[in-house]
Amino acid sequence: MERKIPKNFFIGAAMSGPQTEGAWKTGGRLESIWDTWSQERISDFYNKVGSYVGNNFYEKYEEDIRLMKSLGLDSFRTSMQWSRLMDENEKMNPEGAEFYHKVIRCAEDEKIELFMNLYHFDMPAYLFRKGGWENREVVEAYVNYARTAFREFGKEIRYWFTFNEPIVEPDQRYRNGFWYPFLKDAKRGMQVQYHISLAHALAVREFRKAKEEGLMREDAQIGLINCFAPPYTRENPTPEDLEALRMEDGINNRWWLDLVAEGHLPEDVLKTLSECGLMPETRPGDEEILKEGIVDWLGFNYYHPSRIQAPAEKTDENGYPKFSDPYVWPEAKMNIWRGWEIYPKGIYDFGMKMKNEYPNLKFFVSENGMGVEHEDRFRNEAGEIQDDYRIEFVSEHLDWIFKSIEDGAQCLGYHYWGLIDNWSWNNAFKNRYGMVEVDLMGNYQRKLKKSAGWIKQLIEEREK
Ligand code: BG6
Repeated sequence: MERKIPKNFFIGAAMSGPQTEGAWKTGGRLESIWDTWSQERISDFYNKVGSYVGNNFYEKYEEDIRLMKSLGLDSFRTSMQWSRLMDENEKMNPEGAEFYHKVIRCAEDEKIELFMNLYHFDMPAYLFRKGGWENREVVEAYVNYARTAFREFGKEIRYWFTFNEPIVEPDQRYRNGFWYPFLKDAKRGMQVQYHISLAHALAVREFRKAKEEGLMREDAQIGLINCFAPPYTRENPTPEDLEALRMEDGINNRWWLDLVAEGHLPEDVLKTLSECGLMPETRPGDEEILKEGIVDWLGFNYYHPSRIQAPAEKTDENGYPKFSDPYVWPEAKMNIWRGWEIYPKGIYDFGMKMKNEYPNLKFFVSENGMGVEHEDRFRNEAGEIQDDYRIEFVSEHLDWIFKSIEDGAQCLGYHYWGLIDNWSWNNAFKNRYGMVEVDLMGNYQRKLKKSAGWIKQLIEEREK
């Protein structure tokens, strides 16, 4: 099939501050929760590579942004690190601010539109020690950080995002115990999810205020990024499977979609949470705050579908209600290295969900990519990694995106994650995502993989 990028459809790259910058103690940067975990239990990290390294973006940002330009990309999302921009007294750290000003200036010089996200799973450690997202004071601290960023960089950045994947911290840190501090406590998880929702809405309020005061670009926009893929269950589902689907979709997707499209949380989900003792603590006036959470557009991260079924047990090992169990689709095609299913049509299904259920909200695919282990074995004689699997992965996803646009989805662009190999949390550099390789033994040198040439050509052939 002939594949052409539609005219005006933007193509860029996504990465994040904590996964790229490194320089963890440079320029007054505070300890972040990733540094704490790395210091306390380095063996949890693949090859014992902790949070300190990133891919040296702190020193290589100019080279990286130029590289993006040379591939024809038009935009790039990263995130500021709260721990770099702010100090422990909740004042701006001028050295941190100077770094981000330099990155922004460089992107502007290269005519790369910089999308700036404010939070990518990376809380400063001192705030985590105060209770993290369970503590409402931390919500206030985040709002102060967001306010500071809007006011400092408001004239320089057009596209802002409050959070990347706000569902991940309640899930990974509080509900399933995979990430530091390894809790398995559904009740605390819901409190965290609720407080992040308030933090989002309050940050949007600050954004609108700063804009009204003329402190930001007139065309500035605010959004939220999440992994909103619609969940699937098995064929011929039972009523219990459908109930599992309602709650899975309710907590992971509709929770955020209703918040950012309509300014409230889904009533059926809150009702179920109340009935089973999982309702978070709220305060009078919260509903008014949530009403301000409506955004200008959305980022949709998509790697794999979620497949679930009715839970075998009604409660988990701690006695909390279980809403679903995973369902393994017998026909699933897997990315065996990352253990994630590859299902490109999921991206189309999300487009149709948006068209039908949230027709006024535009979106873009803000992350999509393929992480592969030991890519060295795919190196050719000339030393270039032949990542045909990645080309196939991106091609198939782009085809479904373009089909969704033809069928009425308002999808404006695509960002590949992570264009340049970067640090994947506790998987460190195990699975490489880049179209550009980073040589960890060779001073973080960047080298193009085959897919980099492929994307460049695709962009050159974009419809005129
Ligand atoms: C997304 C995150 O969920 O997935 C990224 O926003 C992350 O931060 C990416 O790196 C890929 O997942 P992983 O766990 O393989 O790094």
